[in-house]
Amino acid sequence: MKQSIQGSRLVVKNVGKHFGDFCALRDINLEVEPGELVCFLGPSGCGKTTLLRIIAGLETQSSGSLYQGGDDISLKPPHARDFGIVFQSYALFPNMTVADNVAYGLRSVGAPKQQIQHRVCELLTTVGLPDQAKKYPTQLSGGQQQRVALARALAPSPGLLLLDEPLSALDAKVRNHLRAEIRHLQQQLGVTTIMVTHDQEEALAMADRVVVMNNGVIEQVGTPVEVYQQPASAFVAEFIGAMNFMDSAAVNDRSVQLGSRVLHLPKPLPRGKGAVRLAIRPEDVHLQPITGDGWEAQVNTLDYLGAFVRTQVTLRGCGLRLVVDVDPRSARELGLAQGAWVNVTLPSDSLHCFAA
Ligand SMILES: Nc1ncnc2c1ncn2[C@@H]1O[C@H](COP(=O)(O)OP(=O)(O)O)[C@@H](O)[C@H]1O
Ligand SMILES: [Mg+2]
Repeated sequence: MKQSIQGSRLVVKNVGKHFGDFCALRDINLEVEPGELVCFLGPSGCGKTTLLRIIAGLETQSSGSLYQGGDDISLKPPHARDFGIVFQSYALFPNMTVADNVAYGLRSVGAPKQQIQHRVCELLTTVGLPDQAKKYPTQLSGGQQQRVALARALAPSPGLLLLDEPLSALDAKVRNHLRAEIRHLQQQLGVTTIMVTHDQEEALAMADRVVVMNNGVIEQVGTPVEVYQQPASAFVAEFIGAMNFMDSAAVNDRSVQLGSRVLHLPKPLPRGKGAVRLAIRPEDVHLQPITGDGWEAQVNTLDYLGAFVRTQVTLRGCGLRLVVDVDPRSARELGLAQGAWVNVTLPSDSLHCFAA
């Protein structure tokens, strides 16, 4: 099914939210482009749901404003805004059939009966449930119920689709499957979408852009590649993927002292002095046979994880521990084993620097 739901542009400007003395959101600025899928990613309690609810009008911001398709929606009640929403818990009406659940939004705006029937049929086919129209929610699996919730949210062709952890309650296999389906459907319909998740893998896999949040602020907005390869803060670096952190001291604005060695940096430091938190991803650390140059290190642990081997090594001299990911073939060629010695190099262009 190809249809043109008109995606609309959403602008969030200087939005803040207080609950009593508690500041849940601080100075949130964000623009979501038509047709884009943006993920709000961050740990539990960082303000993702609060921001989504403010966008929906289910919660009122303490300060700032919101615009959708050029209209100021800051003070509009939810029913006057143009969105469909899916929550983590299925939240279907238990006493209504699947068809009636999907029809709900269309009935409430008084759409003609025949048009509703046609639309319900079309949507249930789209979400892969063409034969379930007469069933009740409790007769469906969790994954099927979320498909119905998705169909219900999409029925009135909203300009904005809001998803609050829609996959969190599902088991891993169903979750991965539905993840791909939601993304496919979203692209097919071209509907501007915001999805809340605390699962970084889900965000990286689905989003055009990821909004990384922590403690009520946005730490970084970027494509999955950008937030992974160029984390803007130590928080982002640690929250997305795995990262080794090392305490070092600036020698000048292009190099740092780590243990007995001086490492050159890919980018100049903002301040060419003081303590620097150096970081490198496990897959960016290079291991070589002990004859190479670099640090000597001893293997502490070795975990075979199928696609790669995750090892932890301790650098001789400074005692620094690093997690290193190696492909299984290199691990074999290097003779990696507990207690074995290897040489470690930290390629300059893979180093990240953060304020200590
Ligand atoms: N209605 C409320 N009253 C008081 N505190 C709230 C309310 N809603 C959310 N909070 C608090 O705001 C913070 C952010 O909550 P929430 O947006 O639900 O986080 P997330 O969705 O990222 O897990 C939490 O500390 C939460 O306890
Ligand atoms: Mg939440």
